[in-house]
Amino acid sequence: MSDNLATQPKRPGPCVMVIFGAGGDLTRRLVVPALYNLATSQLLPDHFAIVGVDLADKTDETWGESLEEMTLQFVNSSGQHSSFDQQAWGRITSCMRYLKGDLNNPETYDTLKGKLQEIDSQAGTQGNYLFYLAIADRFFGPVVEHLGQSGLATQDGRWRRIVVEKPFGHDLQSAKALNKQILNVVSESQVYRIDHFLGKETVQNIMMFRFANGMFEHVWNRDRIDHVQITAAETVGVEKRGRFYEHTGALRDMVPNHVFQLLAMTAMEAPNSFRADAVRAEKEKVIEAIRVCCPEETDSLAVRGQYAAGEIEGEPVPGYRQEPDVSPQSNIETYVALKLLIENWRWAGVPFYVRTGKRLGVRKTQIAIRFKGSPAALFRGTQVREPAPNWMLLRIQPDEGIALEFGAKVPGPVMKLGDVRMDFKYADYFGTAPRTGYETLLYDIMTGDATLFQRADNVEAGWRVVQPILDRWAAQAPAAFPNYKSGTEGPKCADDLLARDGREWRAIQ
Ligand code: BG6
Repeated sequence: MSDNLATQPKRPGPCVMVIFGAGGDLTRRLVVPALYNLATSQLLPDHFAIVGVDLADKTDETWGESLEEMTLQFVNSSGQHSSFDQQAWGRITSCMRYLKGDLNNPETYDTLKGKLQEIDSQAGTQGNYLFYLAIADRFFGPVVEHLGQSGLATQDGRWRRIVVEKPFGHDLQSAKALNKQILNVVSESQVYRIDHFLGKETVQNIMMFRFANGMFEHVWNRDRIDHVQITAAETVGVEKRGRFYEHTGALRDMVPNHVFQLLAMTAMEAPNSFRADAVRAEKEKVIEAIRVCCPEETDSLAVRGQYAAGEIEGEPVPGYRQEPDVSPQSNIETYVALKLLIENWRWAGVPFYVRTGKRLGVRKTQIAIRFKGSPAALFRGTQVREPAPNWMLLRIQPDEGIALEFGAKVPGPVMKLGDVRMDFKYADYFGTAPRTGYETLLYDIMTGDATLFQRADNVEAGWRVVQPILDRWAAQAPAAFPNYKSGTEGPKCADDLLARDGREWRAIQ
């Protein structure tokens, strides 16, 4: 991120990107289309190669062919590219190599090493390798250990970077154990823990918006802000991921990672620079300042839900318990709402309410900041009972933008206030470019900028906050699920959470 800010982006230096999980969904849907986008923007290294490792029988050519369809779909669905850029795609396929290999077998890494040396001598990639773990999380630790044992993780004047996807751990203990296992082999500066929300331009913009515009800082605190609502609402269900989701649930899947990134960007102090460690230290500090409750306390601060059948965009959809690979008695939550308290000078007493759920009425990720109201004395004797509160909305997706809601006098002789909205839309100013969200992240890894990646302490701080909730739920009798209909605003218990404080959620729809 810092390089992008200072100058026009330059092509990264020579390197090979090794993708473990070459045939997986993530590779096909997001990583390769992002590489294609980088190619169309001339942002891939001049000396570059991609090596895919997976179990299936494929050749360099058939691997490339298997990825083309998805990339084409991505280009067409964006509706932005006039046509598929064959030259850019050709540039990618011409540097693709495939290696069939079992991740648990040390021979795979020896063969990989030989292949990489060959590529270095042919393509001038200079021994710089980026290992992308687009694989199931149980392989993260073992693959890193194999890379260490084969010598592939040793830097010696060239760089070796390891990209770890989420989920990073299943709870605090496993996240710590995974950090330890990885950091036994490589140093923290070699590890890039991905949270794809940080690849979203609108998430990155929260920081710019707050710190590049002098007018917000003096109102961005407990003196002027009443509370904050962070919403990550999805219309999709668990789709084909029932098996994964049955062990994960909404809390683990979304909160310590994506939702906390949104919270950190909104609540952190200004770093002194855009240097990776300066930014990550501030984010860590604010997550650390969230109150860690004891399990019993969480009953009044955390609620959960699970979707029943219903309708999304007029189409009937099944309930969670009827989804493939889901138990008909499942006690897994597909919705969670929390009240978080940040106990520092800026935020003490300002609740951050966060909610995320699947199969809600609309897809919307948004941060809504409610300012304190103004005193009513002036309006006595008018039709205005109490001026409506001001809201600032940071819309992350879709319809990316920033809105400010305030009151204005309705024209006419009677003193009346109307609610108005000032709306900035990204698309109006900057156009929209088809992006998967991984472009910046991949570019940053290649250029060695870790600003947008989670450090070990960031990850652990997030888990520390949610751990008591996980413990409490695990110790309780099964919840009365399902408790919200697909296509709605979520369960009633989420409304009760705010009602207890005399507040209400903003409508999602
Ligand atoms: C993923 C979660 O990390 O993020 C998914 O595992 C979720 O369950 C997804 O649907 C949401 O990301 P986005 O970019 O679609 O909002």
